[in-house]
Amino acid sequence: MTGSKTAQRPLRVGLAGLGTVGGGTHAVLTRNASEIRRRAGRAVELAGLADLDQAKANSMAQAVVAAGQPAPKVYTDALAMAADPNIDVVVELIGGYGFAKSLVQAALANCKHVVTANKALLAVHGNELFTQAQGQGVSIGFEAAVAGGIPIIKALREGLTANRIEWVAGIINGTTNFILSEMRDKGLSFADVLAQAQRLGYAEADPTFDIEGVDAAHKITLLSAMAFGMPVKFEKAHIEGITKLQSQDIRYAEQLGYRIKLLGITKRRANGVELRVHPTLIPEKRLIANVEGAMNAVLVKGDAVGHTLYYGKGAGSEPTASAVVADLVDLARGLEAPAADRVPHLAFQPDQLSDLAVLPIAEIESGYYLRLRVADQPGVLADITRILADSGISIDAFIQREPAEGEDQTDVILLSHVCLERQMRLAISHIEQLATVLAPATVLRVETFA
Ligand code: HSE
Repeated sequence: MTGSKTAQRPLRVGLAGLGTVGGGTHAVLTRNASEIRRRAGRAVELAGLADLDQAKANSMAQAVVAAGQPAPKVYTDALAMAADPNIDVVVELIGGYGFAKSLVQAALANCKHVVTANKALLAVHGNELFTQAQGQGVSIGFEAAVAGGIPIIKALREGLTANRIEWVAGIINGTTNFILSEMRDKGLSFADVLAQAQRLGYAEADPTFDIEGVDAAHKITLLSAMAFGMPVKFEKAHIEGITKLQSQDIRYAEQLGYRIKLLGITKRRANGVELRVHPTLIPEKRLIANVEGAMNAVLVKGDAVGHTLYYGKGAGSEPTASAVVADLVDLARGLEAPAADRVPHLAFQPDQLSDLAVLPIAEIESGYYLRLRVADQPGVLADITRILADSGISIDAFIQREPAEGEDQTDVILLSHVCLERQMRLAISHIEQLATVLAPATVLRVETFA
């Protein structure tokens, strides 16, 4: 038999940051060492551990030895590890844009591959870092940066490579999905559920990134670049979180047969690309509407394959480590391959990326949910529907809350068919001028994925 690579030298991994994901990566690499070696064709060896907490690094090094593997070197300074000729790949699990960026740049400058779970770093500085990696003939693996353990990067870059991707939409922040699920199921308050998500370790160090939609925007930015073959354009993303969402809208949506999810959405349009994160009504009969708790799911529509759905844990120690180790195995398999033969970072060859425009939010197309506080008197609904009809907007469904005994106002809830956001905003500004409309409209977007 020929072609066995199992006698080849190991891939020597330096792990920087031994927190939740670092701990999971250490556990998976140690526990599954032999299975991973059989797959990779060489051992994937933990050769270096770097963390400010030296006691933790030392005890993790001992655990590697206890598992019968060579002792990793422990570093106080991750930059020293990134300069060590005995390290092939630096796994950056520190997070943030500060030291993590310097570490990645140093590793690349020393011609070391990088594997990272740092979506913020790549969404903001990815263009520069991918260019640096390419110039050095090395790769940055980032499967763990989007949707944790779900192999969505692999799917977009490889499995779906035959397709012209039309759109991608995903529940890609576990914290907010957990919050929305608990609010809907148990009627709990936003603050209580957030505290629970932080205790469970789903939330970012700064949970503002989760609840304001920034984390989801980092992730959809990366998916958008890979789906359409364009540079990362986080600064152009439209971002709305869930902090302004009211529980009455979750209930009205349910009455209309919808669930509200924080979605990252990117769509190809004739004049550019939509790139947005916001709470979204989805028909409850869609599979993605039933993704609950901290789970993630990504829907991809390709012209050849149609709709595909990827589901799994989007955060947590070993689910995220699963993605980190998958990138390490890819590197181990192709360690001697010429750089030009590797799968390109953003799925398209670097010189084939197109600088597609990201459309302003007024130019997106969507269905809309409107909740209007109105005087309970004849003609109100007729006035509202006339304005919508005059604006060329067609109504899909509506409900009117029955006013309580003695109450002289009520809520009207409307769902529209798809229209331009600019068209809807203009119609709403006219509706809000009606004397019978008593408060600014609550507006949410609707996606049917039909
Ligand atoms: N804070 C993130 C989430 C963790 O809640 O999904 C994984 O990126």
